[in-house]
Amino acid sequence: MKEKILKRLFVSGGEVISGVQISIELGISRVAVWKHIKKLIEEGYEITSSSKGYKLINPDDLLAPFCFDNEKYHIHFFPKISSTMDTAREMARNSAPHLTIVVAEEQTKGRGRLNRQWLSSKGGLWFTIILKPDLPPVLSFRVNFAASLCLAKTLRKLFKINASVKWPNDILVNGKKLAGLLSEMETKADMISFVNIGIGLNVNNCPEKREPNAVSIKNILNKKVSRREILITFLDEFKSELPRIYDKDPNGKNKDIIEKWKKYTSTIGRQVTIETSESTSNGLAVDVDSSGALILQQDNGIKKRIIYGDCFYG
Ligand code: BTN
Repeated sequence: MKEKILKRLFVSGGEVISGVQISIELGISRVAVWKHIKKLIEEGYEITSSSKGYKLINPDDLLAPFCFDNEKYHIHFFPKISSTMDTAREMARNSAPHLTIVVAEEQTKGRGRLNRQWLSSKGGLWFTIILKPDLPPVLSFRVNFAASLCLAKTLRKLFKINASVKWPNDILVNGKKLAGLLSEMETKADMISFVNIGIGLNVNNCPEKREPNAVSIKNILNKKVSRREILITFLDEFKSELPRIYDKDPNGKNKDIIEKWKKYTSTIGRQVTIETSESTSNGLAVDVDSSGALILQQDNGIKKRIIYGDCFYG
């Protein structure tokens, strides 16, 4: 019933609708309508109530499953969970289909790469895509590169902002972090059982208060934007890229996902420091090879191939 009321408010497109009207349409009392609305407000939905009725604020930003094309994507929305990675992992293990998407309004234990905390307050776009590609684990990197490439493309297309990709998977705008990507994979019999791609995009939140090197779209554009539009545009872009990365030949035509990604990176040609749990390397980032490894021309002239790590621009 709660969802039906939310849907009714959504359908009225941000116009006020009276409690009596909702109660008649849904066959429940006005008091019951109010109780459900109260619950929705507690869950974080912005709904105003006045003598004329109820109004959903920012219907364009709503991320509820009924706002999406259910034929294309299986969207699961949670007002508050620990991490979309945890929920997605459970769902993937319990036979969630390929292209299931777990979205949260808030995460209490959002996590980043190298087990760092990821601040996930309301207003950001926090989601994980469950993928079940027919690929050997060694080629899973392609999905990560495709995801960051598609995110940069989406942001440029929708907002004309200069989004670039920092190796391996951060999205930067003017040197500040707008988004981060995290992937988790499980394998069976040398094939991928699932690979989950988590994306944290600062949209209408204000991350810079606690993270001086982070930025949100709202900070950049000075206005709130629709997270739903971003999610739909990104998913469509990503879905169209997926068939092209399923070529199982490591040297096959689809090594060009990296070539495409390189057009959006700000890393190549930069002086960088790469930190891993074992070492720190400095040098000039000269290339990213067809397996996604960063080629670093070290200060001693020797080239080093780096497959993971945290990248800092010098
Ligand atoms: C990073 O840059 O360190 C990666 C950040 C990834 C954050 C996203 S938010 C959605 C998903 N759920 C999480 O707990 N983490 C990822």
